[in-house]
Amino acid sequence: YPISTCLLNCPESFEFSVPDRKQNSHKGSYGEVVIIGGANGMTGAGILAARSALFSGAGKVFIGFIHSAITYDSSYPEIMCRNAKDIQYATGVIVAGPGMGICQTAKDILHSILDSNAPLVLDADALNLIASDVALQIKLSNRTTATILTPHPLEAARLLGVTAKEIQSNRLSTANQLSAKFNAVVILKGAGSIIGLPDGSLRINTSGNPGLATGGTGDVLAGLCGALLAQGFDCFHAAQLATWVHGNAADILVSKGVGPLGICASELPVEIRAGLNSL
Ligand code: APR
Ligand code: MG
Repeated sequence: YPISTCLLNCPESFEFSVPDRKQNSHKGSYGEVVIIGGANGMTGAGILAARSALFSGAGKVFIGFIHSAITYDSSYPEIMCRNAKDIQYATGVIVAGPGMGICQTAKDILHSILDSNAPLVLDADALNLIASDVALQIKLSNRTTATILTPHPLEAARLLGVTAKEIQSNRLSTANQLSAKFNAVVILKGAGSIIGLPDGSLRINTSGNPGLATGGTGDVLAGLCGALLAQGFDCFHAAQLATWVHGNAADILVSKGVGPLGICASELPVEIRAGLNSL
């Protein structure tokens, strides 16, 4: 891609198309997404990410819970619930972090994930664990497979060893720095999410609204990114499409009178599905 900075303000601003689902296809054609997270007390974060991946077209969706008590999601029994320790990191895209916690078990699991060649989305506590462990940082920087990082400003601050205030007053350069440092596509979240590529290219998202300022909406974005990678998008295109469609889902809810006040993260996947099908 040419090094560039531009706005993502409508589907026409994507420099790529969204392929139709082919007649002669099967679930294997649309990939597997494995969510690693949902530690005790935060199981909902893993479930939100998994539901989002399901509604975003992934062929199969698993959750590897850090401490497994949950055997299935009664609203969406399509989601296969396992213990994170029993997940094989050979097939599929891994989305690590939603509600992962930062205990030693979570850290050990993250080491084996970073040792694998699976395409990765790293969010939330996966990023917090990386920020506090140089060995994890080296493994991340040395990866050669697709990697998307989805920090909110405080997670970005921890990764760069600065304050969230400094991040917020330098959002474009933060996305550049994180992307270069970790050799990954970065989505720096918050009003006007910034997408950065290791070569310096940037995109500024214009969709979304303060209705998204509520717990769990980031988990939904992570699951959506994973589903797009699983369906064959490269990191930069997946990050752009996911960020725009996620914000647009919240804009559609507002246009229906649902929000901005009181939007629930769990209401987003249905609108994300409608948005992806309309492209
Ligand atoms: N305008 C537009 N978009 C917004 C706005 C806003 N004012 N506020 C938030 N968003 C969007 C962000 O861009 C992002 O996509 O909502 C999402 C919020 O994501 P997170 O900050 O990760 O929130 P959350 O899902 O609650 O995180 C869950 O993981 O990151 C940790 O500490 C976090 O424990 C929490 C958990
Ligand atoms: Mg989050």
